[in-house]
Amino acid sequence: MNIWAHRGLSYKYPENTLTAFRAACAYDITGIELDIQKTKDGEIVVIHDEKVDRTTDGTGFVKDFTLKELKQLKIANGEGEPERIPTMREVLELLKPYCLGDDLLINIEMKNSEVRYEGMEEEILRLVAEFGLSDHIVYSSFLPEAVALIKELDPTVRTGILHDSPDQCVAWLEQTKADAIHPFVQEVVPGQHLERLGLPVRAWNIRNQEPFFGEEGTVVRQDTEKLRKMGVTDLFTNNADLYCELRAPRFRDTMRLIPGVAPDPQTGLLTEKEGVAANVEPAEVRAGMRMRWNAPHLEYRIHRYSGEIDPALIYTYTYHPESNWTTICPEKETEDWTDADRTFEDDGYIRLEVRRKDGQEMAEGIRLKDICTFSGSPDHLPPIPSYFLQEIQETERTVRACRGRGDRAYLLLADSHYATGGHWEETLRNLKAVSRRICPDGVIHLGDFTDGLMPSEQTGEWFLEVKEDLLSLGCPLRICVGNHDTNSFRNNPDPFTREEWETLYLDGKKNSFTDDARTKVRSIFLSSFDPKEKERYGFDAGTVVWFAKTLLTTPIGWRFLIFSHVPPLPEIHYWSKEIRNGLTMVRLAQTANRLGHPVLGWFHGHNHADQIYRRKGFPIISIGCVKMEDFKDKKPNGAFVPDRKAGDVTQELWDVLVVHGSGNSLDLIRFGAGTDRKT
Ligand code: G3P
Ligand code: CA
Repeated sequence: MNIWAHRGLSYKYPENTLTAFRAACAYDITGIELDIQKTKDGEIVVIHDEKVDRTTDGTGFVKDFTLKELKQLKIANGEGEPERIPTMREVLELLKPYCLGDDLLINIEMKNSEVRYEGMEEEILRLVAEFGLSDHIVYSSFLPEAVALIKELDPTVRTGILHDSPDQCVAWLEQTKADAIHPFVQEVVPGQHLERLGLPVRAWNIRNQEPFFGEEGTVVRQDTEKLRKMGVTDLFTNNADLYCELRAPRFRDTMRLIPGVAPDPQTGLLTEKEGVAANVEPAEVRAGMRMRWNAPHLEYRIHRYSGEIDPALIYTYTYHPESNWTTICPEKETEDWTDADRTFEDDGYIRLEVRRKDGQEMAEGIRLKDICTFSGSPDHLPPIPSYFLQEIQETERTVRACRGRGDRAYLLLADSHYATGGHWEETLRNLKAVSRRICPDGVIHLGDFTDGLMPSEQTGEWFLEVKEDLLSLGCPLRICVGNHDTNSFRNNPDPFTREEWETLYLDGKKNSFTDDARTKVRSIFLSSFDPKEKERYGFDAGTVVWFAKTLLTTPIGWRFLIFSHVPPLPEIHYWSKEIRNGLTMVRLAQTANRLGHPVLGWFHGHNHADQIYRRKGFPIISIGCVKMEDFKDKKPNGAFVPDRKAGDVTQELWDVLVVHGSGNSLDLIRFGAGTDRKT
């Protein structure tokens, strides 16, 4: 659920004030909602009511005050200097760094349904453009004419139509050409089918459920999952902090300490050493992060590594955990053993060398989170680089242009090969930013979440972390299992059993499907790898039977999307001459296709390459590797691998898949390296 701070963090600070906005920005919100009115001398100011009586010590209409007069009015904030009504200009000055640094959005509600404020639409557009923030605004109003007018003045703006009733919002969509509806949350009820609109549904909550600063009352926490099922994509709330974490760098604290190893202080490589334990994977820290030591019986010293990563060394799955992909910085190393808390002064990576104070051996299985906790403040989060911000805006524009009412949009990615030292955190931020803007209907990951080179417990935990990251996008997640996910790569001595990986990744269901009544599409997710079989790549007999049955029992007139990690045919798979039962599976799909159940596409990852194979009567679509790498060889004929570069937009590679309500073509809108595709 996308969370917006309604009038700022308005339960804690006076609504629509710079303090309330600043406080809201500390949280990982999608955006800030605010209200604008106009003064007698034409200044746009941020205040909810037409009159100043409720929120200031003055009386009368905003329209009858000059700005100078309005600025004399005081807004009590309970302590210290009183607040003043901010101008829109002041608010934009405050919020601009958050918009450009973290892709914060602003919903400007034009309060022009009671006082018309002629010219407000042109003036607010001009002001926002002056700040270079046009791409960060959603305009809304309870007055349909105002929503229609602002769109007419600038067809590129994002708008939302406001009304208590979702039905009335929907009824006004056509005349206003609004891009979203903004109904009152308490009027959203089952059976309205708002999820079928294919538009952002931003519901707002006030009145008896969320007191403002200084008001009496109890906060009612919304059931966001229930709302999501009814089609609500976004929530405006006075209590953004109830729903959002503080913006802060995260620390992967599930890493395990391996007894009997420690980093060599000169080379940084792990070497054997009695009586100590160390984390094999270097852990990322950011300047300002604080480490609290919670294990009084243990002491530690820190080995610092540079934050500069050699891109060649994060090449997917040639990464060896015991080697370095970054350089040790001996000058920054803690010389002395200690059990004190510490704050990191700069960005980089660490290995902790830990020992028991009583000199006994270190136990197995200790994780960093068992012995210390890490925290960081919002200031320690680097801003989103401008090349990503442009790509985020471009992706949104392209999706909006090609996604009609009744279409579906999914974030589609493959082969994240998560390990520390990669760029997953940035990928996640980009996914989140695009997700907030386009409100996708789901996320699909085509497998190989991690390299599968670690002990199975660590692989499992990393998968769960990546899964949680994807779930944090707030929409349903569907996945396929990749060959690396079985933890059997390169004869890993600690593979998952079949039961283990089916439970971990698929909740025990080897194959599954979901139905979407709006687009009449059945999406099928297949398992395509079994390390225990001689022909490891492909589909077992049970899957073939299940697939045939699933195709046969699909309602008339419905269409298919098929997803697997491994491609279904050997001619589009470099690594094996056979794909077990692949041809049978493709023939089944061809039959369905011929018999009036169009197969819109069969998607796969695994090849780390882009390709659309069209020889079977339906498109078989390969998507490149989400993790940046330089891996152009060992590809099937016809596959394409775009150039990638760290610190550039081509570092990323994933798609927004648009499934249209009618017609059999699909749009794949690329974020990062590569190009947009159409089937
Ligand atoms: O924009 C959503 C919501 O703010 C509309 O109601 O009265 O709070 O402006 P109100
Ligand atoms: Ca409002």
